[in-house]
Amino acid sequence: MAFDKIRQGVKNVVIKTALKHLPDSTIAKVIGDLYPYKDTATYRRVPAEPLDRAAVLSEIAGMARSEDARGDKGTVSGSLYCGDHDHYHFLGEVFDQFSHANVLQRDMYPSATKFEGEIIAMASDLLHGTGVGVVTSGGTESLITALYSYRELARAKHGVTKPNVVMPVTAHVALDKGAHWMDVEVRKTPLTGRYVADVAAMAARIDDQTIALVASAGDYAHGLIDPITEIGALAQSHDIGLHVDGCLGGWLLPWVERLGYDVPLWDFRVPGVTSISADTHKYGYALKGSSVLLYRDKELRRQQYFAYPDWPGGLYLSPGFAGSRSGGILASTWAALLVTGQEGYLAAADAIMRTATTIRDGVAAIPELEVMGDPLFLVAFKSAGDLDIYLVNDSLIAQGWRMNAAQLPPALHFCVTRPNTAPGVAEAFVEALHGAVDYAKEHKGESAKSGAVYGFGGNPKGNELVTSVMFKVLDAMHAVAPGGKAS
Ligand SMILES: Cc1ncc(COP(=O)(O)O)c(C=O)c1O
Repeated sequence: MAFDKIRQGVKNVVIKTALKHLPDSTIAKVIGDLYPYKDTATYRRVPAEPLDRAAVLSEIAGMARSEDARGDKGTVSGSLYCGDHDHYHFLGEVFDQFSHANVLQRDMYPSATKFEGEIIAMASDLLHGTGVGVVTSGGTESLITALYSYRELARAKHGVTKPNVVMPVTAHVALDKGAHWMDVEVRKTPLTGRYVADVAAMAARIDDQTIALVASAGDYAHGLIDPITEIGALAQSHDIGLHVDGCLGGWLLPWVERLGYDVPLWDFRVPGVTSISADTHKYGYALKGSSVLLYRDKELRRQQYFAYPDWPGGLYLSPGFAGSRSGGILASTWAALLVTGQEGYLAAADAIMRTATTIRDGVAAIPELEVMGDPLFLVAFKSAGDLDIYLVNDSLIAQGWRMNAAQLPPALHFCVTRPNTAPGVAEAFVEALHGAVDYAKEHKGESAKSGAVYGFGGNPKGNELVTSVMFKVLDAMHAVAPGGKAS
């Protein structure tokens, strides 16, 4: 909800202050958008008297209805992958059975072993794996965990002490976060003219401290599949691993391939691919909070296991980052795969691809715009000339559309999901896009309200400033509404 507005506000204030430090009052204005519920009762402590359940439920239902309204219309890129409230309701019912269960306690909840093992098996079957994997809380945890496993294996096997990972600039930013936490150097490599990883550039950055390569299928910014076959061969020639980030495409591309679309090989069929992340909570149509991390072999998975025998609390064993985990997530993810079935995934992929093709063709027919690369389900586009793409976005926002704004270069993307496949949505988008391009031409030279906080990419001072503002926004996201109504 407020993120577009925040980005827009951040970009405006950043540009206006031209690298001067921002007054707190300006930041406070940007942050103000975070609190649309300021005028409802604001709780600063646990209420002394328990509230009425019906009242609490009604307040929550009101928020959910209003926040879902836009996504349900199909005018939002990405974010909501399923959009079927009946399906959500069913998954909610399943979640309810085990919401309270802690899957650490397998003697009490052996069902968790069935759910987790079978989720991994089904993912592995889809991606031609070896049945080795773990279930995590989402794409970020899968990526960071994989990075950790590679670091540990490289340390043990090759004595690596100053680890680095080589990946194209489009690899997901969660890896930068993981590398930051784990003191791994990130070596970023440029893209080709088709916006995919430049394999020669990757080769040039590998040395004896490289723990792994990373590539995407498809990447977040442009939805494209990196040349995995070549990157796999490169990884093998250096005896290092290759993680393929299929968080976004992992549960969609196999069905797209089965439908007969031209999908380059990217999964475990490619020699050299040693791990894959694929998010069940995206195109797997599970509830938010689940992803699968698959490994080609147990030795790599073993790196993320932790056992500590000498703790007074008992002998401790843990497969990954989390301690207690809710059985509800495992049960509902398992159930999502079963009730969707191959038939359901194929039908959804078919509708998504038809919608994406209409959008791609519509964008390609507008001379002022350029489709980036050769997309399948996520269509990224940029200006083909001097049009300000963020002015285009201003108009799309005003017309009720919510695109994802990318940067370096400035671009927008439409990640097509099931809600976008409703009849007429793709055509309506193309029409809105024509209007938006006209708007951008008419307002040429004006500063756009929206943006991806770009334009300071090559300017470290600018990036520092943006980071400092974003940290204040993060602080604000963890605070109660300032001046919120008393409870
Ligand atoms: C390619 C890719 N990788 C990783 C992630 C991170 O996933 P999550 O938001 O579940 O942590 C995303 C999220 O959109 C993604 O598109």
